[in-house]
Amino acid sequence: MKETLIIEGERPLHGNVRVSGAKNAALVIMAAAIMADGETILDNVPQICDVDVMMQIINDLGVDCHWNDDGSLSICPPDKEILTKTPYHLAKKVRASNLFLGSLLGRQGEAVISMPGGCDIGSRPMDLHLKGVQALGAEIDIEHGFIYARAKKTSGNRVYLDFPSVGATENIMMMAAKTPGLTVIENSAKEPEIVDLANFINSMGGKIRGAGTDIIKIEGVSQLKPGRYAIIPDRIEAGTYMVAAAISGGEIMVENIIPTHLHPITAKLQETGAMVQEKDNGLLVTAGDRILPADIKTLPYPGFPTDMQSQMMALLCLADGTSVIVENVFENRFQIVDELKRMGARIKVEGHSAVVEGRDHLYGARVKATDLRAGAALVLAGLAARGQTIIDDAGLIFRGYEDITNKLTSLGAKVEER
Ligand code: EPZ
Repeated sequence: MKETLIIEGERPLHGNVRVSGAKNAALVIMAAAIMADGETILDNVPQICDVDVMMQIINDLGVDCHWNDDGSLSICPPDKEILTKTPYHLAKKVRASNLFLGSLLGRQGEAVISMPGGCDIGSRPMDLHLKGVQALGAEIDIEHGFIYARAKKTSGNRVYLDFPSVGATENIMMMAAKTPGLTVIENSAKEPEIVDLANFINSMGGKIRGAGTDIIKIEGVSQLKPGRYAIIPDRIEAGTYMVAAAISGGEIMVENIIPTHLHPITAKLQETGAMVQEKDNGLLVTAGDRILPADIKTLPYPGFPTDMQSQMMALLCLADGTSVIVENVFENRFQIVDELKRMGARIKVEGHSAVVEGRDHLYGARVKATDLRAGAALVLAGLAARGQTIIDDAGLIFRGYEDITNKLTSLGAKVEER
């Protein structure tokens, strides 16, 4: 795996880019597919490292998971019990491994999940996940870095989420899908990936209503049938290329998107002076004559997505004025600031707020990706900066962006993996 990306700056991007399937829908739907009685075929799964790791975990559990010649992904649970422990050496690589908690409890009433290590953007606790599965009847022990969950007798229940956690909502939905009775999740996450998971489970014969709102009702069923399902497009990948057009001074047609999923990003980009036009085949994003400052507050969907915060910070470093970014979702998602400052950015962090004083150019520099989205933001800054930018730990970027080097190159960027 190449670990470094090298970018020559000051090259406006032009052309069309096709958005891949959504990482954060694919990962949870892969976990849910082990609950089906037979082979599930998933279309539009992005070929990224996080998917590879989830595939290895699924195969380790005793469920055959492989790519098909047509690019689809097959997940074939056997008609006998599977293993229920996610291996630490794989689970630590991808946070989404914690999503096997709900699907293993739903399939077999038992799950042994490696406690997710903290990561660069925050402690990533699981208290809401555990509150949810316990409400449905799971007993939890935490020992030696693993969560042991066993559910002998389960029944539907009402669960209130103190925070609309995406992962907690997903784990409760998956367990509830196979738990007798009615489960009601209140203050549930409303992200499009939650809706995609609900649609997938319903396509298997599940009974989930209200996904996309803050109250989701799930009637448990005894069996989930296999089938074929296509993953929604990735709204964060789409947003990243939209910012690429704005920051590089170019024009990009971002294809294979669902416009409503991008409304918060479109609105904020227009505020910074970019033009965004909805066309039949996607969104045409054209850079404005200059980049205007804008204030950003990240919030759960449909607020501005935290996964686009770093990308917008890179853009606002080049604005004609000062912007304030408030990160309300994660407690430590400003790691990129020190890297952007190496490129000449003027940013001051005060707690959950970052004050970005725009300037008319950045300089290429050697920088380091600290998390997936920060890495993507450094790519964006490198596209606009004067000279060459070298990004170390670029493997983090390949975790979530399918074929990013070729996609950027086809838009006119000078990008090289090393
Ligand atoms: C999902 O993570 C996404 N990952 C993240 O995308 C995304 O940033 C996040 O949702 C928010 O939208 C996947 O879907 C695989 P949360 P998740 O539970 O489920 C706190 C990316 O770059 N919390 O909604 O882990 C938590 O600490 C990744 O693609 C609790 O306090 O996010 C955080 O502050 C990064 N207790 C906040 O909620 C819990 O039990 C949001 O976390 C769970 C979460």
